[in-house]
Amino acid sequence: MRLFLVTLLAALLTAAMAAADVSPEELYQPCASCHGADAGGNAGLQAPRLNHLRPVYILAQLDKFQRGLRGAGDATAAAQQMAASVSMLPPPERWPELAHYISELASGPSAATLAGGDPVLGGDYFNQFCGACHGPAAGGNVALNAPALAGADDWYLAAQLQAFREGQRGQHREDRSGRQMRNMARVLPDQQAILDVIAFIRSQPQ
Ligand code: HEC
Ligand code: HEC
Repeated sequence: MRLFLVTLLAALLTAAMAAADVSPEELYQPCASCHGADAGGNAGLQAPRLNHLRPVYILAQLDKFQRGLRGAGDATAAAQQMAASVSMLPPPERWPELAHYISELASGPSAATLAGGDPVLGGDYFNQFCGACHGPAAGGNVALNAPALAGADDWYLAAQLQAFREGQRGQHREDRSGRQMRNMARVLPDQQAILDVIAFIRSQPQ
């Protein structure tokens, strides 16, 4: 009986969120507690900036988190936390509006937290290994599913490269774009190269 009530309540909540009179801003409210009201990110919670991303990439990642292609298995604690947060999402038919709302938010560039990267050396690595998919100025390439990196938090870029290298992201068989990136993350020779590439990405305009 208790379970039935809980299920009923959840169904009612979902129905309420699906209602057309709930604005995209309201749909974003539960997300703001981690990602910030302007989607500028919160380093303390390991929740990244989202407002530099295109809606199509946001949608793809929400779908991956919900289907367990990202944030499951051996994923990092941060990714597991996001995977658990998909319960706060409205029904899928409202995701496009939510993603569009997020991508329209604005915030200043996030503060640098990593030191010691050489943007010139990083530019060489980037042109050689990354630009073909992410674009010469790290603006992303929709046709290749490659997200914009310019504008992202430096700590988040480092954490994701690490996760791809360790097989904590992009490991799922059905995660084709993640697997592609996983192979690419391994071409950077060492930690210094990662810092250099991130310094280059951070030097590019959003
Ligand atoms: C409890 C905190 C928390 C809440 C609530 C939360 N997120 Fe997240 N989110 C995270 C963390 C942490 C990550 C980073 C995951 C990782 O490191 O792989 C993340 C990652 C993401 C990403 C992937 C970004 C990228 O560049 O790939 C998207 C998109 C996202 N969240 C959207 C949302 C939306 C939309 C909501 C509201 C339904 C939401 N999040 C609610 C913590 C949260
Ligand atoms: C073959 C195309 C390709 C190449 C080359 C490539 N990437 Fe990616 N990258 C992708 C794709 C596709 C994704 C999205 C993965 C997903 O959907 O989970 C991605 C995701 C990322 C992410 C996660 C961004 C986020 O918001 O979560 C980072 C960081 C990244 N790439 C950095 C790099 C760097 C640095 C290089 C060069 C060493 C590189 N990529 C080379 C295709 C590529």
